[in-house]
Amino acid sequence: MSNYKQEINRRRTFAIISHPDAGKTTLTEKFLLYGGAINLAGSVKGKATARHAVSDWMEIEKERGISVTSSVLQFEYGGFCINILDTPGHQDFSEDTYRTLMAADSAVMVIDASKGVEAQTRKLFKVCVMRKIPIFTFINKLDRDANDTFELLDEIEKELGIATCPVNWPIGSGKRFRGVYDRDRQCVLMYSDTEKGTKEGETTEISVSDHGKLTEAIGQEAADTLRDEIELLDGASAEFDLDLVRSGDLTPVFFGSALTNFGVEFFLQHFLKMTTTPLPRKADTGLIVPDENDFSAFVFKIQANMNKAHRDRIAFMRICSGKYEASMEVKHVQGGKVMRLSQPQQIMASERKILDEAYAGDIIGVFDPGIFSIGDTLCMPKEQFCYEGIPTFAPEHFARVRQVDTMKRKQFVKGITQIAQEGAIQIFQEFNTGMEEIIVGVVGVLQFDVLKYRLENEYNVEIRLENLPYEHIRWIENKEIDLNKLTGTSDMKKIKDLKGNPLLLFVNAWSVGMTLERNEGLKLSEFGRD
Ligand code: G4P
Repeated sequence: MSNYKQEINRRRTFAIISHPDAGKTTLTEKFLLYGGAINLAGSVKGKATARHAVSDWMEIEKERGISVTSSVLQFEYGGFCINILDTPGHQDFSEDTYRTLMAADSAVMVIDASKGVEAQTRKLFKVCVMRKIPIFTFINKLDRDANDTFELLDEIEKELGIATCPVNWPIGSGKRFRGVYDRDRQCVLMYSDTEKGTKEGETTEISVSDHGKLTEAIGQEAADTLRDEIELLDGASAEFDLDLVRSGDLTPVFFGSALTNFGVEFFLQHFLKMTTTPLPRKADTGLIVPDENDFSAFVFKIQANMNKAHRDRIAFMRICSGKYEASMEVKHVQGGKVMRLSQPQQIMASERKILDEAYAGDIIGVFDPGIFSIGDTLCMPKEQFCYEGIPTFAPEHFARVRQVDTMKRKQFVKGITQIAQEGAIQIFQEFNTGMEEIIVGVVGVLQFDVLKYRLENEYNVEIRLENLPYEHIRWIENKEIDLNKLTGTSDMKKIKDLKGNPLLLFVNAWSVGMTLERNEGLKLSEFGRD
């Protein structure tokens, strides 16, 4: 195998999804302990200080002490080169969070054992399902009192509609947490939190068939419960099937405690065995295979104003095939131009590292003089193909935009259109009017502030935002439907996007169902595709 094929095949690129506070950052930090991070792009959020240290791209970030952007980090472990894509949570949840998942080959879902499946996990999970990428579950915080294990699995299956296959099984939780049972090796790995914050120490292993030793180690009651649970589990749970994992129909489930560093390396080792090498991607000419095709990439995110002094934009791209070499000529397909990517970099925070080479699976950031759009394809000059576009994700907050000084109409339209092109916000119009009435939709409310701030600072336009009560937006998939004849609910509003595509806004989820019921044949989607 040539060197570049080896480099590609040892890459593993995944995103971590979770609801805020489930332990995503802690788990990521523990991963890094094992590998020794080689490149940190953006922050591993860490705590407020760490966030400040790495991220000073936008004033608004500084003011609020939060990171507005997603980050990527790369580290080596056991011969693998691992790219982790962070999906920002809290207030900085935005459409970028969803788009990040378009660049990953698999997802790790972190769930708090005392909370179960939470709202943000549910939203991000939907995007993983749409892409049919493998999903691995880490149920965290077993050192605290947890929900019943069977109930947790049941919740994942029912709420998310994915089959579960526990790879290990917890023995108690909270003060009575004793460790996990490794189903494959049929032994118990004893819990110890003496190694807090450092690498996992030597874990004591006890075979479950050694009754005396097991009872001595975890007590009679816990040993009896474990045997009962193993019996139940072996009878009831789905068999492990790697094909089903790879197609996103079955999630392997692991239990542990990221904070006390228990079960983390176990997870990492099994996960790396089960997850995929960089996946082939669909282009209009067919599948592009990472280690058989020359360099190609697609843009999944555009970050504006990373350095206010230069007013630069950075386009983040996922390399889908081949190898990128410094100063190589590539074709920007949508722009129809052959170009050199200027200073591609791997580090996307205060420390930026210029790259000499990168491979399929890696994420690079390049300076964008305003030519790239989200979803654009780059390939070798002799080639010509386009990757499947990135869908538009449903905003959940809407506001009507009012311009304070109506004389500045031109700047306003220019500013808001450019910001929308970068993908931080979506803009819509009333169904029967033009640009005079603009409705803006965002995935996370912070984007409203970002919009206001940027229009004022970059375009010198002041706006007022009037919140609208809508929370659900749907794209109409069957375009032949006559919108004027649609029988909706009283809370429904018809709007259109900048391309003139009709959309529906609803206040309640219930109304979406009602409208579907009332209009036979109507097909609504939560994702917009051109
Ligand atoms: P996030 O990135 O998913 O938002 O979560 P993060 O890792 O920041 O963790 C959220 C809180 O949960 C943190 O506590 C963290 O220490 C704690 N935590 C993470 N994993 C575990 C675990 O396995 N067990 C226990 N008991 N706690 C865990 P915090 O009080 O918000 O921050 P800190 O001041 O303790 O750092």
